[in-house]
Amino acid sequence: MDLADLVRKNRSYRRFDGSHAISPQTMRDLVGLARITPSAMNRQPLKYIVSCRPRTNAAIYATLAWAGSLKDWDGPQPHERPTAYVVILVDKELNPNAGNDIGIAAQTMLLAAVEVGLGGCMVGSIKRPALREALSIPEGLEIGLVVAIGKPVEEVVLEDAEPGGSVTYYREPDMSHHVPKRTMEEILVAEHTD
Ligand SMILES: Cc1cc2nc3c(=O)[nH]c(=O)nc-3n(C[C@H](O)[C@H](O)[C@H](O)COP(=O)(O)O)c2cc1C
Repeated sequence: MDLADLVRKNRSYRRFDGSHAISPQTMRDLVGLARITPSAMNRQPLKYIVSCRPRTNAAIYATLAWAGSLKDWDGPQPHERPTAYVVILVDKELNPNAGNDIGIAAQTMLLAAVEVGLGGCMVGSIKRPALREALSIPEGLEIGLVVAIGKPVEEVVLEDAEPGGSVTYYREPDMSHHVPKRTMEEILVAEHTD
């Protein structure tokens, strides 16, 4: 898969094959790539917790909120939940403003997951105190983002959004998940060429 295909295929997946085990080495490989991504002033404030153990996965899952725009969907059924997670933590003493670093690391890990036939979803809607307690996360580390990983079993369809129209994702009755993206005409403010 070339990079453009990877980026297109790297959608937010929220339903997975819950029986597909992910190896500890795969999780280490993902973090190994995040480790070498760009970091503001190269301060590298991000730390990671990985899980591919069912009991820990269940504890993490219980702290997450899924697809807030799908009001009539309670999240993945038990048999379609992610089978691994990366919890991205921020050492605030190293850099309190790590938002960009977090996004770069998360996207890099998701692209790498897609390359090996997996997929996932960034989850920022987290019951942080509950997750901190469940994973015994030290107070000095802030919870940035959770990246859920698994073998996707859902179809995600990208669409062009109408100019000024809705960009709210939605599901069809066949459970295909549709994601409107603003068109190039809408987002490209200027092209200075020649
Ligand atoms: C920083 C960030 C936080 C997100 N948090 C959540 C979340 O808490 N729950 C969820 O289901 N999806 C979450 N998403 C996924 C977005 O809903 C998703 O990116 C968006 O619907 C577009 O779909 P796409 O990723 O397939 O392009 C998050 C995405 C980003 C970038």
